[in-house]
Amino acid sequence: MSESPLSMPQTGRSVDELLQDIDEMRGNDIDWRSGRAFSLVYNADDPELERLQHRVADMFLHENALNPFAYPSLVRMEQEVVGFAADLFGTEPGSGTMASGGTESIFLAVHTAREVARERDRDAHRIVMAETAHPAFTKAAHYLGMDTVRVPVGADLRADVDSMSQQIDERTALVVGSAPCYPYGIIDPIADLAALAIDVDALCHVDACLGGWLLPFWERIGESVPDWNFAVPGVTSISADIHKYGYCFKGASVVLYSDKALKAHQHFLFDGWPGGLYGSATTAGTRPAAPIAAAWATINHLGMDGYLAKTTVVRDTSRRFLEGVLAIDGLQVAGKPTLSLFEFSSVDGVETTGAIADVMDDRGWNLDRQQGGLHLMISPGHAHAVDEFLVDLAYAVEHHGENRGKAASYGGVAE
Ligand SMILES: Cc1ncc(COP(=O)(O)O)c(C=O)c1O
Repeated sequence: MSESPLSMPQTGRSVDELLQDIDEMRGNDIDWRSGRAFSLVYNADDPELERLQHRVADMFLHENALNPFAYPSLVRMEQEVVGFAADLFGTEPGSGTMASGGTESIFLAVHTAREVARERDRDAHRIVMAETAHPAFTKAAHYLGMDTVRVPVGADLRADVDSMSQQIDERTALVVGSAPCYPYGIIDPIADLAALAIDVDALCHVDACLGGWLLPFWERIGESVPDWNFAVPGVTSISADIHKYGYCFKGASVVLYSDKALKAHQHFLFDGWPGGLYGSATTAGTRPAAPIAAAWATINHLGMDGYLAKTTVVRDTSRRFLEGVLAIDGLQVAGKPTLSLFEFSSVDGVETTGAIADVMDDRGWNLDRQQGGLHLMISPGHAHAVDEFLVDLAYAVEHHGENRGKAASYGGVAE
């Protein structure tokens, strides 16, 4: 009798058999290498980089970054990665840590803001942000016993400074700006938001999970970038994911502060345990070592020149997508995106947008459905897919009516 797949297997199975099973199970997973998916994986389109990452992951597969005394190599690599980021974002080396992803980096910055408010004797537990800020802030607030205020964006889809200022007061622990926000790829007016935070003695976090490893290079290839980093007075922390436009594999982010004293709020020490002194600087206990080592190797392999080259491809490819979408009659783009991601929709509304997405699904594309439209996020691996995408999209816009009878698959709000 065959065992239930949900009960503990009695006997082990061979490596070959399991690998074959896994291969089959992966059959319906998104094939990001084809350039037909636009979220979750940032395809660097770089076999040599991937070879390096596989090798490094292999070397650090079993190591544990929890105890810095056991792995001086990991301590050094993390320090250097934080140093590279500090150099790019304009703060002192040593004023941050790596984290497992954007959500953990945000969690740590929110916790720091809560602690600083307490230290300053302020009864402040609110996070004020535009409605476009990532859900990770609401999640962190939920875990940490804080409140959130999400403010509608202005007509340009950026945080509306006047509306935000009406919500920022003595109860505010943290003001958040996105550089850029995920839904529209648009950068908030960071300098204005940071000034509002200064007025009430609150901290200001810039969520550059998406843009942190893109904007410094975007600017260097000659594009205009609004002020967004530690050069802005009042910006006290920044999150930036190396597993997004830093082109590392998953599990690599950094959170940095305007000075080391702020970062110190992350440190947790406990000496009342028979197991010995326990200390850590992030939320995890056991920490996978591979993302730390791979982030270090990735950044050192690409260097400034490598990132500039990839950023040029991303910019040029993003423009081809954006101009191509705008050239199709009946489609519109949300706001004025200037980076590598944007939302587009049908001028005829959400239902039509959903029908277009269904045709694109049928043609093998994976477009994320947002509340108001479809999301495109471009990485170097999309350079080869633009022309085919635009041909299929034009087809979908023309023929979506034939799909109307099918079950609606649009995940957003009703028209
Ligand atoms: C702007 C922004 N912030 C935060 C996050 C959360 O990052 P993660 O999914 O790595 O936790 C994302 C993820 O897409 C993001 O786009």
